[in-house]
Amino acid sequence: MSEGRTLHVHILRFDPHLKDDKPRIETFELREAPGMTLYIALNDIRKYLDNSLKFDFVCRAGICGSCAMLINGRPGLACRTLTSKLDAHISLAPLPVFELIGDLSVHTGNWMRGMSERLETWIHTQKAPDIDRMEERMEPELAEAIYELDRCIECGCCIAGCGTIQMRESFVGAVGLNKIARYRLDPRDERSDAQLYQLIGDEDGVFGCMSLLGCADVCPKELPLQSQIAYLRRKMVQIGK
Ligand code: SF4
Ligand code: SF4
Ligand code: FES
Repeated sequence: MSEGRTLHVHILRFDPHLKDDKPRIETFELREAPGMTLYIALNDIRKYLDNSLKFDFVCRAGICGSCAMLINGRPGLACRTLTSKLDAHISLAPLPVFELIGDLSVHTGNWMRGMSERLETWIHTQKAPDIDRMEERMEPELAEAIYELDRCIECGCCIAGCGTIQMRESFVGAVGLNKIARYRLDPRDERSDAQLYQLIGDEDGVFGCMSLLGCADVCPKELPLQSQIAYLRRKMVQIGK
């Protein structure tokens, strides 16, 4: 029975904006409550033990992607992780790769925006906007397939778990490749495969991926990253030839 345990939460603390601050591990002890998530534990730490602790959250329901962090070295969402599933000693650290705001808080938004602008992750169409026009019909199976890939919450876990990005900062990661797969499926986006090749047909795109699938292992939304990356690669090889 894990209920009522004393948790020892070891947190990597560092605020790059504070002069002379140094990275260090600080340990907080608290009593585990039934159904406690890491988000609740962090909130209790901030409320009762140290109100200077920085971490991000918005939805507390696995929807906004804000609370991603390294949990015992593995990327995951604090609000979707039950403390009862973990040992009483828990190590927390900020996601690597992203700009550190302080402690467990990182700026995933900057990175995601840069990736989105680079890959132009929006519908490209020559059709003039017409707000009176009826929405075009789409087969439910296709809408479902697009929705499946659209479930990405831009949490950054796949980036933090990616070996390629540790070596090549400009790699677009599984999140970027998944977005291209999503727009490629969408008939409203008129970009051809040859145009998409210009965006991801290089080492910063689909040919930089080493297919070790750390991304798929840690994606909290269980997106089909493995099959999408493999399919995109086959398509881009054909176009490249
Ligand atoms: S693909 Fe998965 S892990 Fe990557 S940002 Fe989207 S939801 Fe997070
Ligand atoms: S499969 Fe590709 S995108 Fe996924 S973690 Fe490995 S290198 Fe990164
Ligand atoms: S707080 Fe939104 S995903 Fe965790």
